[in-house]
Amino acid sequence: MNIVVLNGSPKGDISVTMQYIHYIQKKYKQHRLTIINIAKNIHKIEKDKAYFENIMDAIKSSDGVLWAFPLYVFTVSSSYQRFIELIFERNMTAVFKEKYTSLLATSIHFYDHTAINYMHAICDDLDMHYVDDFSPHMYDLEKEAIRNNLLLFAKNFFDAIENQVTTLKAFNPVKHAPINYVSEIQQDKLDASNKKIIIVTDSLENSNLKNMIHAFKLSFVQSIEVVNLQDLDIKGGCLGCLKCGYDYTCVYHDKDDYIRFYNNTLKAADIIIFAGTIQHRYLSYRWKMFLDRGFFNTHTPSLSNKQFGFILSGPLNQVPNLRQILEAYVQWQGSHLVGFVTDEYATNSELDNHLYALANNLIKLSDCNYRRPTTFLGIAGMKLFRDEIWGELRFPFIADHKAYRTHNVYDFPQKYYTSRIRNFVLMLMCKIPFIRKEIYSNKIKPGMIASLEKIVNNDSVS
Ligand SMILES: Cc1cc2nc3c(=O)[nH]c(=O)nc-3n(C[C@H](O)[C@H](O)[C@H](O)COP(=O)(O)O)c2cc1C
Repeated sequence: MNIVVLNGSPKGDISVTMQYIHYIQKKYKQHRLTIINIAKNIHKIEKDKAYFENIMDAIKSSDGVLWAFPLYVFTVSSSYQRFIELIFERNMTAVFKEKYTSLLATSIHFYDHTAINYMHAICDDLDMHYVDDFSPHMYDLEKEAIRNNLLLFAKNFFDAIENQVTTLKAFNPVKHAPINYVSEIQQDKLDASNKKIIIVTDSLENSNLKNMIHAFKLSFVQSIEVVNLQDLDIKGGCLGCLKCGYDYTCVYHDKDDYIRFYNNTLKAADIIIFAGTIQHRYLSYRWKMFLDRGFFNTHTPSLSNKQFGFILSGPLNQVPNLRQILEAYVQWQGSHLVGFVTDEYATNSELDNHLYALANNLIKLSDCNYRRPTTFLGIAGMKLFRDEIWGELRFPFIADHKAYRTHNVYDFPQKYYTSRIRNFVLMLMCKIPFIRKEIYSNKIKPGMIASLEKIVNNDSVS
């Protein structure tokens, strides 16, 4: 069987992910796995039409396609995403139609599910036969149980192709027919004199997005800065070189405008609006490049204590995966998400009102420094990083380790001496049946609220 492996690692052959592929290849010599370095060669793929067509031909004549990629900032690397965009832009979807496919993603499991969802949905959009996905931790190949399962995953893929099994679709096609938005209502202008607000967008070509940004800006007395990522000099995507691990120094450094913009402008803002167009279940490749390059801060939050808003043209309600990625991004950064406004409304005035409400809430919540508590998205993400940086990834991520120590991210082992003594005593008491019965029947519920009641009833607590 001839399987095409589409390598999503910007590092090309020197890739963790490819070690999993080599392992499969070694154990299944009867099948041929042809690796194509997609992310590493994206410039050539984009510029050299013949090269792109050769790749399409290889896929066309293959028995199956294995998308093999590292996680990059909640999904795939920007270069891999660009390849996906090119498939649609160049009308090559027929090449993928009804091909059997599976995903192999390596990561440290930080939002690997959103990357899998994204790629699975793309495969469904391409009308492929999606067999399975396999998402090990980057070093899981060292574990025998995972190696055994990896081989079963591969066997299942080969068997599915051989037997032409029926596969299940998980994602419905996305449909979006927005109104042609033109602002109709002018409301009282808001005073943002003591706030630094910035809107970052990737394009002003989409007229709905352009008009939404314009209407949003008109909500304020002051003029609001808009930065178009197309005008920002960004030389390329993150290369995954990890030079930033030592002290946050990016390999691009001052070769382009990215770091200067990020550190001097974005970090200085009180209120940040990200604006863009949803295409192929994400924002544009330019946006992804922008977000990936933020990895020069490695695993240290770098945009904390801001109020965030999103202005999006596109069917966000049909792409909950993207909503979760953006929510998680803001939470993990230690900032506060005020809300999303999209062009999914039925009338101009509804959209006007929502844009104004977003502007109003951003100012109001920034003034009182309100933050609703972080949910699982931010808390779990940070705990995962905490464990990784404490353990396996302390080197090369030395800068993270220093920052985590300084900011008390290493909140373990949990000492909590009072609760440990209380737990010890209660566990001992519960060994006696009649006390256990009394505790579990009559004491647990009042016990759970005792400390909270004290606060509620204490008039001196502010
Ligand atoms: C820029 C960048 C972004 C990353 N983002 C994530 C992420 O969002 N979630 C995660 O679990 N791992 C993330 N990782 C870790 C890689 O996915 C992981 O190290 C992977 O195994 C690398 O595979 P490769 O050597 O094939 O490129 C990121 C690494 C880099 C360099």
